[in-house]
Amino acid sequence: MFPKKPPMGFNTWNTFGENISDEMIRQTADAMVEKGLRDAGYEYLVIDDCWSEKQRDPVTDKIVPLKSKFPNGMKAVSDYVHSKGLKFGMYSCAGVRTCADYPGSYDHEFLDAKTFAEYGADFLKYDFCYKPEHADGPMLYRRISMALENCGRDILLSACNWGCDDVHKWIRSTAAGMYRSTGDIFDSFVSFRDIFLSQLAHTDANTPGCFNDIDMLTCGMRNFGNVASTGCTDTEYRTEFALWCMLGAPLMLGCDVRKIDDVTLKLVTNKGLLRINQDGECRSLFVAHEDCNNLRNVYARLLSDHEIALMFTNLCDDKGAAWFTPDCIGVTANAGKVLQLTDAFTGEDAGIVKEYKRVELDAHDCAVFIAKVVDA
Ligand code: GAL
Repeated sequence: MFPKKPPMGFNTWNTFGENISDEMIRQTADAMVEKGLRDAGYEYLVIDDCWSEKQRDPVTDKIVPLKSKFPNGMKAVSDYVHSKGLKFGMYSCAGVRTCADYPGSYDHEFLDAKTFAEYGADFLKYDFCYKPEHADGPMLYRRISMALENCGRDILLSACNWGCDDVHKWIRSTAAGMYRSTGDIFDSFVSFRDIFLSQLAHTDANTPGCFNDIDMLTCGMRNFGNVASTGCTDTEYRTEFALWCMLGAPLMLGCDVRKIDDVTLKLVTNKGLLRINQDGECRSLFVAHEDCNNLRNVYARLLSDHEIALMFTNLCDDKGAAWFTPDCIGVTANAGKVLQLTDAFTGEDAGIVKEYKRVELDAHDCAVFIAKVVDA
């Protein structure tokens, strides 16, 4: 499947790990609707690892949902998710076992794709653990691509090989609609900072149809659950969300959306930030001004309607300023033009930039603007 905009949704892994169940998925579906997340664009509800029995069915060879967690089978869960106007996502692995040691799809790709189609799945996250040594990684993503493309249902392939085998170079020749390019995120500032910075070398590798996935968001986790670490402040979650939006990365929520707090809900449904993330032109982010070893950069991205997203970052551990001049993005000093800014977080007018813009920022904070080029 070829998504035209970065996919948005929720994935169980960050908070729940193996503690998933029919009930928890139904409650999450309810919450996604009641809290307005579905209407904001978060449409996929994805079950990650640990959903199946430890062995395949000895007769059919199919993967079987774990009875104790999913007593009604997967089709019933999927039907419920669909009844809420959401899409349903499953998880498997290119190797012989999943990362948490459940059956993987190696050499069962066509059978499993058919099984997921029978469940009514719309999305498949496809991991990379327990790959037989002789098997070629890219070929395994080609196999599952073929199987999904021919399973009779539109299923978005979400590849997850953590950036191995130079994934940026070949993944767009498979049917993957998004692909993980980084190791696992944890709920800490350092974790999301390093994940984001690792992709500065690959900003051109994020395109419609095949989006660069830098992992599920930790926003609002408040250091609870499976990928807990040091936790983040609200300022840090704000910066994390803005970085993902600026890159045009898929937005998969990882907090417990049944208990999402108001600050996080407001953040992840922010119209200005989502407008940047979901911009139909899907252009690449670029560094407009580099400072402090990339820790105080200003980023820019051309948007539709001749607008430009600008993000001023302070990823340093102390207060400081990020700055740029309009000619950093191509507006020359003698052009007779200035930049008219709107604060993306608040929607408020943020004035005009003539020659220079400097934003003082607390440690780990950011500012995001939507700019227009207007006559001076
Ligand atoms: C990792 C993957 C995580 C999660 C986990 C499940 O390989 O990167 O996002 O899916 O496996 O075991």
